[in-house]
Amino acid sequence: MKSDSKQNVTPDLKDLPAHVGIIMDGNGRWAKKRFMNRVKGHERGSQVVRSIVTSCMELGIGILTLYAFSTENWARPKSEVKALMMLLKKFIVSEREAFLKNNIRVHVIGQKDKLPLDVQQEIDTTMELTKHNNKLLLNLALSYGSREEITTAVREIAKKINSNDLEFSDITQDLISNHLYTKTMPDPDLIIRTSGEYRLSNFLLWQAAYSEIYISDTLWPDFSRAEFVEILKNFQNRDRRFGKVSCSTSNAG
Ligand code: FPP
Repeated sequence: MKSDSKQNVTPDLKDLPAHVGIIMDGNGRWAKKRFMNRVKGHERGSQVVRSIVTSCMELGIGILTLYAFSTENWARPKSEVKALMMLLKKFIVSEREAFLKNNIRVHVIGQKDKLPLDVQQEIDTTMELTKHNNKLLLNLALSYGSREEITTAVREIAKKINSNDLEFSDITQDLISNHLYTKTMPDPDLIIRTSGEYRLSNFLLWQAAYSEIYISDTLWPDFSRAEFVEILKNFQNRDRRFGKVSCSTSNAG
């Protein structure tokens, strides 16, 4: 895993987001602009994944959640789905040594059991080997969709009520959070979406309640460590009120 640039100023570490989520969008348009197959965009996108994972590790960000494949992405042409699965497998296998060396733990959120068996096996191996690592938690959202996640959580809770393991009055926001794929993690502080689209596309809808959102016009294959650092600086200047009143103003909403 190599950094694409080390010359960027490292932002003040004390105010960095603990958890960053990224909607990596624009691979197809990047390829189209160059009269290339969409898969070439995903290939270049994978290289950017490596560079941003390294940046998070070097900067001291604790959790990075990458939206790599959504529940809706299964409806793409078979050849594109196949290529994406191959790229995922390649990434998981080729980066394994780096994950171990750099104390990175790999985890998957989403319907892991829907992925091709060989991909599942490589993911399981990597998850098992890295399970005690604690510098960076790399969360790959695979066959992930918030609505599916919430539906599954509701079903699990209903089942527990049915079997008297839970009571109706036990249903709280914390209980719901603890039934999501992200149960052990803090909510994302910052969600970045590339390619200039202003939507969350079924990504961490419950968890994003108070996330700061940053939309970048850059297509994911062109995203760089330098821009990532600029976005982190932008985040550091946000006034996060969580629905309360700002410390610096008395009339803020
Ligand atoms: C969205 O771009 C991107 C995806 C659906 C896949 C993201 C995958 C990668 C970045 C590479 C593989 C991932 C890892 C973790 C190694 P799009 O195809 O929707 O682009 P478009 O909107 O321009 O068509």
